[in-house]
Amino acid sequence: MHWEEMMVQLSRRTVLLAGAAWAVTGLGPSNVRAQDSAQPSLPIPAELRADAGGTIRLDARPGSMRFVGDRATATYGINGPYLGPAVRVRRGEKVVAQVSNNVPETITMHWHGLIIPGAADGGPHQVIPPGKQWQTELAVDQPAATLWFHPHSYPATAQEVIRGLAGLLIIDDEESGRLPLPSRWGVDDIPLIIQDRRFTPDGQFFDRMNYIAVVNGYVGDTALVNGARYPQARTARGWIRLRILNGSNARSYTLAASDGRSLYVIGSDGGLLASPVELKQLLIHVGERFEVLVDGRDGRAFDVVTLPVAQDIMRLPPFDGPLPLVTIRPEGADGTGQLPSSLAVLPALPQQLPPMSQELVMNMFRDQQGMMPLKTAGLMAMVKSGKTDPAVVARVVNLIVNDPVLSQTEQLSASGVNGKPFSIERMDFAAARSQDLRWRISEGTDLMLHPVHIHGCQFRIISRDGKPPEAERAGWKDVAPISAGGVTEILVRFPHPANRDTPYMAHCHILEHEDSGMMAQFTV
Ligand code: C2O
Ligand code: CU
Ligand code: CU
Repeated sequence: MHWEEMMVQLSRRTVLLAGAAWAVTGLGPSNVRAQDSAQPSLPIPAELRADAGGTIRLDARPGSMRFVGDRATATYGINGPYLGPAVRVRRGEKVVAQVSNNVPETITMHWHGLIIPGAADGGPHQVIPPGKQWQTELAVDQPAATLWFHPHSYPATAQEVIRGLAGLLIIDDEESGRLPLPSRWGVDDIPLIIQDRRFTPDGQFFDRMNYIAVVNGYVGDTALVNGARYPQARTARGWIRLRILNGSNARSYTLAASDGRSLYVIGSDGGLLASPVELKQLLIHVGERFEVLVDGRDGRAFDVVTLPVAQDIMRLPPFDGPLPLVTIRPEGADGTGQLPSSLAVLPALPQQLPPMSQELVMNMFRDQQGMMPLKTAGLMAMVKSGKTDPAVVARVVNLIVNDPVLSQTEQLSASGVNGKPFSIERMDFAAARSQDLRWRISEGTDLMLHPVHIHGCQFRIISRDGKPPEAERAGWKDVAPISAGGVTEILVRFPHPANRDTPYMAHCHILEHEDSGMMAQFTV
Protein backbone atom coordinates (compact mmCIF):
# COMPACT_ATOMS: atom_id res chain seq x y z
CA MET A 1 0.00 0.00 0.00
CA HIS A 2 1.15 3.48 -0.72
CA TRP A 3 2.29 5.41 2.32
CA GLU A 4 -0.14 8.34 2.11
CA GLU A 5 -2.98 5.95 1.54
CA MET A 6 -1.99 4.04 4.62
CA MET A 7 -1.76 7.18 6.71
CA VAL A 8 -5.20 8.32 5.66
CA GLN A 9 -6.57 4.91 6.41
CA LEU A 10 -4.77 4.72 9.71
CA SER A 11 -5.92 8.05 10.92
CA ARG A 12 -9.49 7.33 9.88
CA ARG A 13 -9.37 4.02 11.67
CA THR A 14 -7.70 5.53 14.68
CA VAL A 15 -10.45 8.09 15.03
CA LEU A 16 -13.05 5.41 14.56
CA LEU A 17 -11.44 3.07 17.02
CA ALA A 18 -10.84 5.75 19.53
CA GLY A 19 -14.38 7.00 19.35
CA ALA A 20 -15.85 3.54 19.51
CA ALA A 21 -13.78 2.31 22.40
CA TRP A 22 -14.30 5.40 24.43
CA ALA A 23 -18.01 5.14 23.86
CA VAL A 24 -18.16 1.42 24.54
CA THR A 25 -15.79 0.93 27.42
CA GLY A 26 -16.39 4.42 28.67
CA LEU A 27 -12.76 5.19 29.29
CA GLY A 28 -13.40 8.66 30.54
CA PRO A 29 -12.71 10.98 33.38
CA SER A 30 -15.64 9.81 35.47
CA ASN A 31 -15.40 6.10 34.82
CA VAL A 32 -11.73 5.24 34.76
CA ARG A 33 -11.78 2.10 36.87
CA ALA A 34 -13.90 2.97 39.83
CA GLN A 35 -12.43 0.09 41.74
CA ASP A 36 -8.75 0.68 41.66
CA SER A 37 -7.58 -1.65 44.38
CA ALA A 38 -6.48 -4.27 41.84
CA GLN A 39 -4.41 -1.76 39.95
CA PRO A 40 -0.76 -1.69 41.01
CA SER A 41 0.84 1.62 41.92
CA LEU A 42 3.13 3.15 39.35
CA PRO A 43 6.69 2.36 40.49
CA ILE A 44 8.68 5.60 40.68
CA PRO A 45 12.40 5.00 40.13
CA ALA A 46 14.48 6.37 43.01
CA GLU A 47 16.46 9.51 42.26
CA LEU A 48 20.19 8.96 42.44
CA ARG A 49 22.58 11.91 42.75
CA ALA A 50 26.35 11.80 43.02
CA ASP A 51 27.54 11.05 46.57
CA ALA A 52 29.75 13.43 48.59
CA GLY A 53 32.77 12.13 46.70
CA GLY A 54 31.10 12.90 43.36
CA THR A 55 30.46 9.27 42.44
CA ILE A 56 27.35 7.64 41.02
CA ARG A 57 27.30 3.92 41.59
CA LEU A 58 25.34 1.71 39.26
CA ASP A 59 25.19 -1.98 39.90
CA ALA A 60 23.78 -4.20 37.14
CA ARG A 61 22.50 -7.35 38.74
CA PRO A 62 20.05 -10.22 38.25
CA GLY A 63 16.65 -9.94 39.87
CA SER A 64 13.17 -11.35 39.84
CA MET A 65 9.78 -9.73 39.23
CA ARG A 66 6.16 -10.82 39.16
CA PHE A 67 4.71 -9.44 35.93
CA VAL A 68 2.27 -12.25 35.15
CA GLY A 69 0.16 -13.72 37.94
CA ASP A 70 2.47 -14.92 40.64
CA ARG A 71 5.05 -16.41 38.33
CA ALA A 72 8.56 -15.09 38.90
CA THR A 73 10.27 -13.65 35.85
CA ALA A 74 14.08 -13.64 35.85
CA THR A 75 15.21 -10.07 35.22
CA TYR A 76 18.19 -7.77 35.23
CA GLY A 77 18.12 -4.40 36.93
CA ILE A 78 20.38 -1.59 38.03
CA ASN A 79 20.49 -1.07 41.79
CA GLY A 80 17.23 -3.03 41.90
CA PRO A 81 15.44 -5.96 40.25
CA TYR A 82 14.19 -4.25 37.06
CA LEU A 83 15.19 -1.04 35.25
CA GLY A 84 17.32 1.42 37.21
CA PRO A 85 17.33 4.57 39.30
CA ALA A 86 16.73 8.03 37.84
CA VAL A 87 20.25 9.44 37.84
CA ARG A 88 20.18 13.21 38.36
CA VAL A 89 23.02 15.51 37.41
CA ARG A 90 23.29 19.26 37.01
CA ARG A 91 24.73 21.19 34.14
CA GLY A 92 28.32 22.08 35.05
CA GLU A 93 28.68 19.08 37.32
CA LYS A 94 31.50 16.55 36.87
CA VAL A 95 30.64 13.16 38.24
CA VAL A 96 32.28 9.77 38.19
CA ALA A 97 30.02 6.97 37.05
CA GLN A 98 31.05 3.62 38.42
CA VAL A 99 29.29 0.71 36.77
CA SER A 100 29.60 -2.76 38.29
CA ASN A 101 28.57 -5.70 36.20
CA ASN A 102 27.08 -8.43 38.34
CA VAL A 103 25.03 -10.07 35.62
CA PRO A 104 26.39 -13.24 34.01
CA GLU A 105 27.16 -11.67 30.63
CA THR A 106 29.27 -8.87 29.20
CA ILE A 107 27.55 -5.49 29.18
CA THR A 108 28.40 -1.88 28.46
CA MET A 109 26.69 1.23 29.81
CA HIS A 110 25.87 3.96 27.34
CA TRP A 111 24.60 7.43 28.28
CA HIS A 112 22.04 8.02 25.57
CA GLY A 113 21.83 11.71 24.69
CA LEU A 114 24.75 12.87 26.81
CA ILE A 115 27.25 15.03 24.95
CA ILE A 116 30.54 13.57 26.16
CA PRO A 117 33.77 12.31 24.55
CA GLY A 118 33.78 8.87 22.93
CA ALA A 119 35.99 7.61 25.76
CA ALA A 120 33.12 8.14 28.25
CA ASP A 121 30.26 7.13 25.94
CA GLY A 122 29.95 3.46 26.90
CA GLY A 123 29.51 2.14 23.37
CA PRO A 124 30.17 -1.41 22.14
CA HIS A 125 33.96 -1.07 22.56
CA GLN A 126 33.77 -0.36 26.28
CA VAL A 127 32.83 -3.78 27.50
CA ILE A 128 32.41 -4.64 31.16
CA PRO A 129 32.90 -8.40 31.61
CA PRO A 130 30.92 -10.16 34.36
CA GLY A 131 32.28 -9.35 37.81
CA LYS A 132 34.15 -6.27 36.56
CA GLN A 133 33.73 -2.52 36.97
CA TRP A 134 33.96 0.37 34.55
CA GLN A 135 34.54 3.88 35.73
CA THR A 136 34.27 7.01 33.69
CA GLU A 137 34.01 10.75 34.21
CA LEU A 138 30.88 12.47 32.98
CA ALA A 139 31.32 16.23 32.59
CA VAL A 140 27.79 17.49 32.09
CA ASP A 141 27.50 20.55 29.89
CA GLN A 142 24.18 20.69 28.09
CA PRO A 143 20.67 21.98 28.80
CA ALA A 144 18.21 20.33 31.19
CA ALA A 145 16.79 17.19 29.58
CA THR A 146 15.47 13.72 30.16
CA LEU A 147 18.09 11.29 28.83
CA TRP A 148 18.59 7.61 29.57
CA PHE A 149 21.21 4.93 29.92
CA HIS A 150 21.28 1.36 28.69
CA PRO A 151 23.77 -1.32 27.60
CA HIS A 152 25.20 -1.17 24.08
CA SER A 153 26.77 -4.61 23.76
CA TYR A 154 27.15 -5.67 20.18
CA PRO A 155 25.23 -7.80 19.24
CA ALA A 156 23.23 -8.28 22.44
CA THR A 157 21.74 -4.87 23.26
CA ALA A 158 18.21 -6.09 22.47
CA GLN A 159 18.33 -9.02 24.86
CA GLU A 160 19.96 -7.06 27.68
CA VAL A 161 17.36 -4.30 27.44
CA ILE A 162 14.54 -6.88 27.31
CA ARG A 163 15.89 -8.30 30.56
CA GLY A 164 15.58 -4.87 32.22
CA LEU A 165 18.81 -2.92 31.87
CA ALA A 166 17.84 0.73 31.31
CA GLY A 167 17.32 3.82 33.42
CA LEU A 168 16.66 7.54 33.25
CA LEU A 169 19.38 10.18 33.30
CA ILE A 170 17.99 13.60 34.09
CA ILE A 171 19.92 16.83 33.65
CA ASP A 172 18.85 19.91 35.60
CA ASP A 173 20.00 23.45 34.91
CA GLU A 174 19.42 26.98 36.14
CA GLU A 175 17.23 28.14 33.27
CA SER A 176 14.77 25.29 33.66
CA GLY A 177 14.93 25.67 37.44
CA ARG A 178 13.62 29.22 37.08
CA LEU A 179 10.52 28.05 35.22
CA PRO A 180 7.43 27.24 37.31
CA LEU A 181 7.27 23.70 35.90
CA PRO A 182 6.00 20.87 38.09
CA SER A 183 9.15 19.39 39.55
CA ARG A 184 8.33 17.36 42.63
CA TRP A 185 9.52 13.87 41.81
CA GLY A 186 6.74 11.32 41.95
CA VAL A 187 4.24 14.00 43.05
CA ASP A 188 3.73 16.15 39.99
CA ASP A 189 6.86 15.19 38.04
CA ILE A 190 6.20 11.64 36.91
CA PRO A 191 8.55 9.44 34.87
CA LEU A 192 6.91 7.00 32.45
CA ILE A 193 9.18 4.37 30.88
CA ILE A 194 7.03 2.58 28.33
CA GLN A 195 8.03 -0.89 27.13
CA ASP A 196 6.32 -3.89 25.61
CA ARG A 197 7.10 -7.45 26.55
CA ARG A 198 5.92 -10.94 25.76
CA PHE A 199 6.20 -13.84 28.17
CA THR A 200 6.87 -17.53 27.67
CA PRO A 201 4.35 -20.00 29.13
CA ASP A 202 6.54 -20.35 32.23
CA GLY A 203 6.55 -16.60 32.80
CA GLN A 204 9.99 -15.70 31.43
CA PHE A 205 10.71 -12.88 28.98
CA PHE A 206 10.17 -14.06 25.44
CA ASP A 207 13.24 -13.31 23.31
CA ARG A 208 13.97 -14.92 19.95
CA MET A 209 16.19 -13.59 17.16
CA ASN A 210 14.55 -14.94 14.04
CA TYR A 211 13.86 -13.20 10.72
CA ILE A 212 10.53 -11.94 12.04
CA ALA A 213 12.32 -10.19 14.93
CA VAL A 214 15.34 -9.01 12.95
CA VAL A 215 13.10 -7.39 10.36
CA ASN A 216 10.11 -6.20 12.42
CA GLY A 217 11.69 -5.83 15.82
CA TYR A 218 10.51 -7.22 19.15
CA VAL A 219 6.74 -7.62 19.33
CA GLY A 220 5.35 -7.68 22.86
CA ASP A 221 1.76 -8.32 23.83
CA THR A 222 1.96 -6.67 27.24
CA ALA A 223 2.59 -3.01 27.95
CA LEU A 224 4.69 -2.16 30.98
CA VAL A 225 5.10 1.29 32.48
CA ASN A 226 8.09 1.53 34.82
CA GLY A 227 7.93 -2.26 34.95
CA ALA A 228 4.25 -2.50 35.96
CA ARG A 229 1.18 -3.54 33.98
CA TYR A 230 -1.47 -0.81 33.73
CA PRO A 231 -0.48 0.87 36.98
CA GLN A 232 -1.99 3.98 38.56
CA ALA A 233 -0.23 7.09 39.79
CA ARG A 234 -1.69 9.30 42.50
CA THR A 235 -0.43 12.77 41.81
CA ALA A 236 -0.92 16.31 42.99
CA ARG A 237 -4.11 17.99 41.84
CA GLY A 238 -2.75 20.43 39.30
CA TRP A 239 -0.41 20.53 36.35
CA ILE A 240 1.42 17.24 35.97
CA ARG A 241 4.66 16.73 34.14
CA LEU A 242 5.15 13.38 32.46
CA ARG A 243 8.71 12.51 31.47
CA ILE A 244 8.07 9.90 28.83
CA LEU A 245 10.72 7.51 27.53
CA ASN A 246 9.87 4.99 24.84
CA GLY A 247 12.20 2.31 26.17
CA SER A 248 10.76 -0.41 23.94
CA ASN A 249 12.96 -2.32 21.53
CA ALA A 250 10.92 -1.60 18.42
CA ARG A 251 7.37 -0.43 19.11
CA SER A 252 6.17 3.13 18.56
CA TYR A 253 3.21 4.49 20.55
CA THR A 254 0.58 7.08 19.76
CA LEU A 255 -0.16 8.51 23.17
CA ALA A 256 -3.38 10.26 24.11
CA ALA A 257 -5.45 10.98 27.20
CA SER A 258 -8.51 8.72 27.49
CA ASP A 259 -10.83 11.70 27.91
CA GLY A 260 -9.24 13.65 25.10
CA ARG A 261 -7.55 16.25 27.30
CA SER A 262 -4.59 17.97 25.71
CA LEU A 263 -0.98 16.93 25.98
CA TYR A 264 1.31 19.97 26.12
CA VAL A 265 4.72 18.85 24.91
CA ILE A 266 7.39 20.97 26.63
CA GLY A 267 10.54 19.01 25.84
CA SER A 268 12.03 16.63 23.29
CA ASP A 269 15.08 14.32 23.49
CA GLY A 270 17.69 16.93 24.34
CA GLY A 271 15.82 19.61 26.27
CA LEU A 272 12.96 22.05 26.48
CA LEU A 273 11.18 23.33 23.39
CA ALA A 274 10.87 27.06 22.73
CA SER A 275 7.21 26.95 23.78
CA PRO A 276 4.65 24.26 24.61
CA VAL A 277 3.09 22.32 21.74
CA GLU A 278 -0.53 21.35 22.37
CA LEU A 279 -1.47 17.97 20.93
CA LYS A 280 -4.29 15.46 21.27
CA GLN A 281 -2.04 12.61 20.12
CA LEU A 282 1.69 12.23 20.51
CA LEU A 283 3.64 9.73 18.43
CA ILE A 284 6.80 8.53 20.18
CA HIS A 285 9.34 6.20 18.60
CA VAL A 286 11.86 3.98 20.33
CA GLY A 287 14.65 5.85 22.07
CA GLU A 288 12.74 9.13 21.99
CA ARG A 289 11.75 11.14 25.04
CA PHE A 290 9.10 13.79 25.42
CA GLU A 291 8.27 15.85 28.46
CA VAL A 292 4.56 16.55 28.53
CA LEU A 293 2.39 18.67 30.81
CA VAL A 294 -1.22 17.66 31.43
CA ASP A 295 -3.78 19.75 33.24
CA GLY A 296 -4.99 17.81 36.26
CA ARG A 297 -6.47 20.78 38.08
CA ASP A 298 -9.93 19.22 37.76
CA GLY A 299 -8.77 16.36 39.98
CA ARG A 300 -10.31 13.83 37.62
CA ALA A 301 -8.64 10.55 36.79
CA PHE A 302 -7.73 9.72 33.22
CA ASP A 303 -5.70 7.10 31.43
CA VAL A 304 -2.73 7.63 29.21
CA VAL A 305 -3.63 5.33 26.31
CA THR A 306 -1.82 4.27 23.17
CA LEU A 307 -3.61 4.19 19.82
CA PRO A 308 -2.63 1.97 16.87
CA VAL A 309 0.56 2.95 15.06
CA ALA A 310 1.74 2.62 11.46
CA GLN A 311 3.85 -0.50 12.00
CA ASP A 312 1.89 -3.48 10.68
CA ILE A 313 2.99 -6.12 13.15
CA MET A 314 2.63 -3.72 16.07
CA ARG A 315 -1.12 -3.66 15.48
CA LEU A 316 -1.67 -7.14 16.87
CA PRO A 317 -3.94 -7.21 19.94
CA PRO A 318 -4.00 -5.69 22.45
CA PHE A 319 -2.49 -2.85 20.41
CA ASP A 320 -5.27 -2.93 17.79
CA GLY A 321 -7.36 -0.35 19.62
CA PRO A 322 -6.85 2.22 22.37
CA LEU A 323 -4.88 0.45 25.09
CA PRO A 324 -4.68 2.06 28.53
CA LEU A 325 -1.09 2.22 29.77
CA VAL A 326 -1.37 4.02 33.09
CA THR A 327 -4.05 5.78 35.12
CA ILE A 328 -3.27 9.25 36.42
CA ARG A 329 -5.25 10.25 39.50
CA PRO A 330 -4.66 13.93 40.26
CA GLU A 331 -6.31 13.58 43.62
CA GLY A 332 -3.63 14.75 46.04
CA ALA A 333 -2.88 18.16 47.53
CA ASP A 334 -3.02 21.14 45.21
CA GLY A 335 -0.13 21.29 42.78
CA THR A 336 2.05 24.34 42.38
CA GLY A 337 3.43 23.84 38.89
CA GLN A 338 2.31 25.84 35.90
CA LEU A 339 2.44 25.73 32.15
CA PRO A 340 4.73 28.59 31.07
CA SER A 341 4.02 30.16 27.70
CA SER A 342 7.67 30.20 26.75
CA LEU A 343 10.25 27.67 27.81
CA ALA A 344 13.76 27.90 26.40
CA VAL A 345 15.76 29.80 23.85
CA LEU A 346 16.42 27.58 20.87
CA PRO A 347 18.96 28.94 18.39
CA ALA A 348 17.38 29.45 14.97
CA LEU A 349 18.66 27.22 12.19
CA PRO A 350 21.18 29.16 10.08
CA GLN A 351 19.84 30.75 6.87
CA GLN A 352 22.81 29.34 5.02
CA LEU A 353 23.09 25.63 5.76
CA PRO A 354 26.48 23.93 5.53
CA PRO A 355 27.00 21.57 2.58
CA MET A 356 25.93 17.95 3.02
CA SER A 357 28.86 16.15 4.62
CA GLN A 358 27.53 12.71 5.50
CA GLU A 359 24.92 10.32 4.18
CA LEU A 360 23.53 7.51 6.29
CA VAL A 361 21.41 4.98 4.41
CA MET A 362 19.69 2.36 6.54
CA ASN A 363 19.64 -1.02 4.83
CA MET A 364 17.66 -4.18 5.37
CA PHE A 365 19.10 -7.12 3.46
CA ARG A 366 16.55 -9.67 4.66
CA ASP A 367 13.33 -7.70 4.76
CA GLN A 368 11.67 -10.14 2.36
CA GLN A 369 12.45 -13.05 4.72
CA GLY A 370 10.76 -11.16 7.55
CA MET A 371 7.85 -9.68 5.59
CA MET A 372 6.73 -12.42 3.19
CA PRO A 373 5.61 -14.87 5.89
CA LEU A 374 3.54 -12.07 7.48
CA LYS A 375 1.97 -11.19 4.16
CA THR A 376 1.19 -14.87 3.54
CA ALA A 377 -0.32 -15.08 7.02
CA GLY A 378 -2.65 -12.23 6.07
CA LEU A 379 -1.26 -9.51 8.34
CA MET A 380 -1.06 -6.68 5.82
CA ALA A 381 -4.55 -7.42 4.50
CA MET A 382 -5.88 -7.48 8.05
CA VAL A 383 -4.30 -4.14 8.90
CA LYS A 384 -5.71 -2.67 5.70
CA SER A 385 -9.19 -3.94 6.54
CA GLY A 386 -9.01 -2.36 9.98
CA LYS A 387 -10.60 -5.43 11.56
CA THR A 388 -8.76 -7.82 13.83
CA ASP A 389 -9.04 -11.42 12.67
CA PRO A 390 -8.17 -13.99 15.37
CA ALA A 391 -7.04 -16.56 12.78
CA VAL A 392 -4.56 -14.12 11.26
CA VAL A 393 -3.39 -13.05 14.70
CA ALA A 394 -2.77 -16.68 15.66
CA ARG A 395 -0.74 -17.30 12.50
CA VAL A 396 1.38 -14.18 13.01
CA VAL A 397 1.99 -14.93 16.69
CA ASN A 398 3.03 -18.42 15.70
CA LEU A 399 5.63 -16.92 13.37
CA ILE A 400 6.89 -14.52 16.05
CA VAL A 401 7.26 -17.32 18.55
CA ASN A 402 8.33 -20.26 16.39
CA ASP A 403 10.16 -18.98 13.32
CA PRO A 404 13.64 -20.54 13.55
CA VAL A 405 16.38 -18.73 15.47
CA LEU A 406 19.09 -17.27 13.23
CA SER A 407 22.71 -18.32 13.33
CA GLN A 408 25.04 -15.53 14.45
CA THR A 409 26.25 -15.13 10.85
CA GLU A 410 22.70 -14.77 9.54
CA GLN A 411 21.84 -12.26 12.28
CA LEU A 412 24.93 -10.09 11.83
CA SER A 413 24.49 -9.77 8.09
CA ALA A 414 20.76 -9.02 7.99
CA SER A 415 20.97 -5.20 8.18
CA GLY A 416 23.42 -2.44 7.45
CA VAL A 417 24.24 1.21 7.04
CA ASN A 418 25.51 2.53 3.69
CA GLY A 419 25.43 -0.96 2.23
CA LYS A 420 27.46 -2.72 4.91
CA PRO A 421 26.56 -4.58 8.09
CA PHE A 422 28.27 -3.18 11.20
CA SER A 423 31.81 -4.33 11.85
CA ILE A 424 33.43 -3.47 15.16
CA GLU A 425 36.86 -3.43 13.47
CA ARG A 426 36.01 -1.05 10.65
CA MET A 427 35.79 2.73 11.09
CA ASP A 428 33.06 3.92 8.76
CA PHE A 429 33.80 7.63 8.59
CA ALA A 430 35.17 10.64 10.42
CA ALA A 431 33.25 13.77 11.41
CA ALA A 432 34.79 17.21 11.85
CA ARG A 433 34.85 18.49 15.43
CA SER A 434 33.01 21.59 16.70
CA GLN A 435 31.57 22.52 13.37
CA ASP A 436 27.99 22.66 12.12
CA LEU A 437 27.46 19.66 9.88
CA ARG A 438 24.56 18.75 7.64
CA TRP A 439 23.77 15.04 7.43
CA ARG A 440 21.23 13.20 5.36
CA ILE A 441 19.55 10.09 6.72
CA SER A 442 17.55 7.86 4.42
CA GLU A 443 16.75 4.24 3.79
CA GLY A 444 17.11 1.64 1.11
CA THR A 445 14.16 -0.09 -0.47
CA ASP A 446 12.42 -1.44 2.63
CA LEU A 447 10.10 1.52 3.49
CA MET A 448 10.13 0.54 7.16
CA LEU A 449 10.38 2.85 10.15
CA HIS A 450 13.90 3.51 11.42
CA PRO A 451 14.33 5.85 14.38
CA VAL A 452 17.99 6.74 13.81
CA HIS A 453 20.12 7.74 16.79
CA ILE A 454 23.56 9.38 16.84
CA HIS A 455 26.00 9.44 19.73
CA GLY A 456 28.00 12.39 21.01
CA CYS A 457 25.53 15.11 20.07
CA GLN A 458 22.15 16.71 20.20
CA PHE A 459 21.04 17.75 16.73
CA ARG A 460 18.22 19.64 15.07
CA ILE A 461 16.01 18.22 12.36
CA ILE A 462 16.19 20.51 9.33
CA SER A 463 13.57 18.66 7.35
CA ARG A 464 11.79 15.37 7.00
CA ASP A 465 10.72 14.43 3.50
CA GLY A 466 11.32 18.01 2.43
CA LYS A 467 9.06 19.50 5.09
CA PRO A 468 9.98 21.14 8.37
CA PRO A 469 9.77 18.75 11.36
CA GLU A 470 6.63 18.59 13.51
CA ALA A 471 6.71 21.29 16.21
CA GLU A 472 7.38 18.69 18.92
CA ARG A 473 10.47 17.50 17.02
CA ALA A 474 11.80 20.97 16.19
CA GLY A 475 13.97 21.18 19.32
CA TRP A 476 17.04 19.24 20.46
CA LYS A 477 16.95 15.66 19.24
CA ASP A 478 19.14 12.60 19.29
CA VAL A 479 16.69 10.34 17.45
CA ALA A 480 15.51 11.15 13.91
CA PRO A 481 12.79 8.95 12.45
CA ILE A 482 12.65 8.00 8.79
CA SER A 483 10.08 5.77 7.10
CA ALA A 484 8.43 4.91 3.81
CA GLY A 485 11.51 5.71 1.76
CA GLY A 486 11.76 9.11 3.38
CA VAL A 487 14.72 11.35 4.02
CA THR A 488 15.62 13.36 7.09
CA GLU A 489 18.22 16.10 7.11
CA ILE A 490 19.83 17.16 10.35
CA LEU A 491 22.14 19.90 11.56
CA VAL A 492 24.62 18.38 13.98
CA ARG A 493 27.77 19.36 15.87
CA PHE A 494 30.21 17.21 17.83
CA PRO A 495 32.00 19.25 20.50
CA HIS A 496 34.11 16.33 21.81
CA PRO A 497 36.61 13.90 20.31
CA ALA A 498 35.97 10.23 19.71
CA ASN A 499 38.99 8.20 18.64
CA ARG A 500 39.37 4.83 16.93
CA ASP A 501 39.36 2.94 20.21
CA THR A 502 36.14 4.51 21.41
CA PRO A 503 34.24 5.80 18.38
CA TYR A 504 30.69 7.11 18.37
CA MET A 505 27.82 5.07 16.93
CA ALA A 506 25.09 6.02 14.49
CA HIS A 507 22.35 3.43 14.29
CA CYS A 508 18.73 2.53 14.08
CA HIS A 509 17.32 2.38 17.63
CA ILE A 510 15.11 -0.58 16.78
CA LEU A 511 17.39 -2.78 18.82
CA GLU A 512 16.93 -5.84 16.60
CA HIS A 513 18.05 -3.72 13.63
CA GLU A 514 21.05 -2.44 15.60
CA ASP A 515 21.99 -5.97 16.69
CA SER A 516 21.77 -7.24 13.13
CA GLY A 517 24.14 -4.66 11.67
CA MET A 518 22.17 -1.40 11.17
CA MET A 519 24.91 0.58 12.88
CA ALA A 520 27.97 2.52 11.77
CA GLN A 521 30.85 3.86 13.85
CA PHE A 522 32.76 7.07 13.37
CA THR A 523 35.53 9.15 14.85
CA VAL A 524 35.50 12.88 15.60
CU1 C2O B 1 20.25 4.52 23.04
CU2 C2O B 1 23.43 3.95 20.62
O1 C2O B 1 21.84 4.09 21.89
CU1 CU C 1 23.10 6.93 22.35
CU1 CU D 1 15.59 0.22 11.79
